Amino acid sequence: MSSYSFRQLPPPDAELAGRVALVTGAGRGQGRSIARRLLAAGASVIAGDVSDEHLDELAAELGDRGVVGRHDVTDAASWVSLLEGGVGRFGRLDILVNNAGVLRRLPLDEESEEGFTLIWRINCLGPFLGIKSCLAHLRRSDAAAVVNTASTAAFTAWSQHSAYVSSKFAVRGLTKAAAVELAGDGIRVNAVVPGPINTPMNFRDDDPNVLERLSRVPLARVGEPEEVAEAVLFLVGARSSYITGSEIVVDGGQTAGTVFTGPKRA
Ligand SMILES: NC(=O)c1ccc[n+]([C@@H]2O[C@H](COP(=O)([O-])OP(=O)(O)OC[C@H]3O[C@@H](n4cnc5c(N)ncnc54)[C@H](O)[C@@H]3O)[C@@H](O)[C@H]2O)c1
Repeated sequence: MSSYSFRQLPPPDAELAGRVALVTGAGRGQGRSIARRLLAAGASVIAGDVSDEHLDELAAELGDRGVVGRHDVTDAASWVSLLEGGVGRFGRLDILVNNAGVLRRLPLDEESEEGFTLIWRINCLGPFLGIKSCLAHLRRSDAAAVVNTASTAAFTAWSQHSAYVSSKFAVRGLTKAAAVELAGDGIRVNAVVPGPINTPMNFRDDDPNVLERLSRVPLARVGEPEEVAEAVLFLVGARSSYITGSEIVVDGGQTAGTVFTGPKRA
């Protein structure tokens, strides 16, 4: 059972001192910011990404408290080797952040079985394999926490995103299923729900109006990956010790509703 208690909270700048966290898809975007934030809160960080483009600079950034490896969340053997390297080095694992994910925009009639399956494998099978692969280590931790990455597309659907939307709805289901099943082991499982965030996933050369389009939320701007990382830190730390099977929405008000700008009516 978790030894965390709201009566004995660690100081905020050492929230995760002595803990070990694993972050997937950490090469860039939100994963990079999450790895950086957990490190700054005192954790050692095992970080993986399927792309090796940024792995060297990530390793340099994490320094002695980092283990970085090429890692595909859809491949069980890849989980084994990342854990062998990371837990072999740090001796334990307390936190898993299933961040890696991919977006695909295609009308239903153009989506293929292969494409749909690929998105599901990364976005939903990946977190499942992560929890399963890390379970024995997390069970040994006295403060285990998992955070899965959903999306506001897991609350209301977007057209032309059938694979992404359905995979992210499923991530919420997986989060709650794992939370109730693993509560007895003292493992908390929650989801972070980003809205439009300023990461490479959203910004492509062929979509010049994306910033304006994504900023149509009540706070009238896109979010920064650091703002998602703060929510993840809360969900893996002692300050959320009674929260499991839950979700933190970080979306600038996107799911809350629409800012109405029409004329008044008396
Ligand atoms: N950016 C947003 O607006 C937004 C909104 C809601 C949810 N999300 C979710 O947040 C998470 C992070 O997204 P991001 O915006 O940082 O995206 P990103 O594309 O900037 O980064 C994703 C990272 O995941 C890695 N990755 C892809 N497939 C992988 C695999 N099979 N194994 C391991 N790593 C893999 C990529 O190489 C990349 O480094 C994703 O799950 C995404 O669906 C993002």
